[in-house]
Amino acid sequence: MLLPTPRGPVSEILVSVFRTSPGADAEALLKTVSAADVEKISEEDLQLSLFLCYGPQYCLFGESVQSWEWESSLIELRKRLEVRFDRELREAVSELPDVGVAKLPDFLMELGRPRGGRSLSRYLKQDATMEQFREFLMHRSVYSLMEADHHSLVIPRVRGGGKPALVEIQSDEYGGGVPGRLHSQLFELTLSELGMHTRFGAYFEKVPACALATVNVISYFGTYGRHRGAVLGNLAVTEIGSHHVNQNFRNGLRRLDGPDESWLFFQEHIVADAVHEQLAAYDMCGEFVRENPGELAEVVFGAMVTAELGARANEYLLSCWERGESALRGAMPAVAGR
Ligand SMILES: [Fe+2]
Ligand SMILES: [Fe+2]
Repeated sequence: MLLPTPRGPVSEILVSVFRTSPGADAEALLKTVSAADVEKISEEDLQLSLFLCYGPQYCLFGESVQSWEWESSLIELRKRLEVRFDRELREAVSELPDVGVAKLPDFLMELGRPRGGRSLSRYLKQDATMEQFREFLMHRSVYSLMEADHHSLVIPRVRGGGKPALVEIQSDEYGGGVPGRLHSQLFELTLSELGMHTRFGAYFEKVPACALATVNVISYFGTYGRHRGAVLGNLAVTEIGSHHVNQNFRNGLRRLDGPDESWLFFQEHIVADAVHEQLAAYDMCGEFVRENPGELAEVVFGAMVTAELGARANEYLLSCWERGESALRGAMPAVAGR
């Protein structure tokens, strides 16, 4: 992926140092960004900056940027960004309910259950234009073209309870050993069947902060052992209810005459996630907290914040389209005169 266009002063500095090798000048530049500076930047700048900081651990920006991976000046800046991000995440969910270890799986199933009211998947099923469907795929591409990689960060951090189910889910996400069946590859197929670019980063410039946040939150949790429970909560909410929304996505593409192969990604999730939601809630999170009851609140936090960030990202798309506008950054209104 090419280095993206900066969205404010901090991402400007990060992009400029990533164009050079680590050295005294570049490291000094990173150190000029104070905690107070981080508080003042826009959400777009914050989310892009976090995405840039996590990029080297996924080998995203090419060989030269890899030399930055363990540079202390970069890690220190990332930690200053994470202080603000963590605070925003905690504000997003305010009070955590007292769930109790035994009730956690049922709580997660209820949290992830599809509800009435405004629904992105229902809109895509019934009302969206093909252009809007493509915009939705562009938003999702920052996650689904790397599907499962973010959650895999947690595998070596979990032992015993919950690990077999975690690995089973992740194995399915990686296609169960069958070439071409990785969910990220099925997503590529959807994009190519709809005449879209399949390269990771092709639509990155068009994706707003709310979509980047849904990915950054997994990278953040996955980077720290103390947040391992939050990764599991995130994965559970990603899986629970997914088979239902993917049915809506598939039916939407069918209504829009999408080619058969373009549905495969959604079809796969209708089948796989009906199993994954049970595995995630009961065998993964349930067993994990039974062995690690002190980490119950972290699982609940991860689950609730994931539900909230997902709802915000979905609402962004819906509200843009309702105003007759594109949900892409830098796009002109989709409907003339509105
Ligand atoms: Fe998947
Ligand atoms: Fe899944």
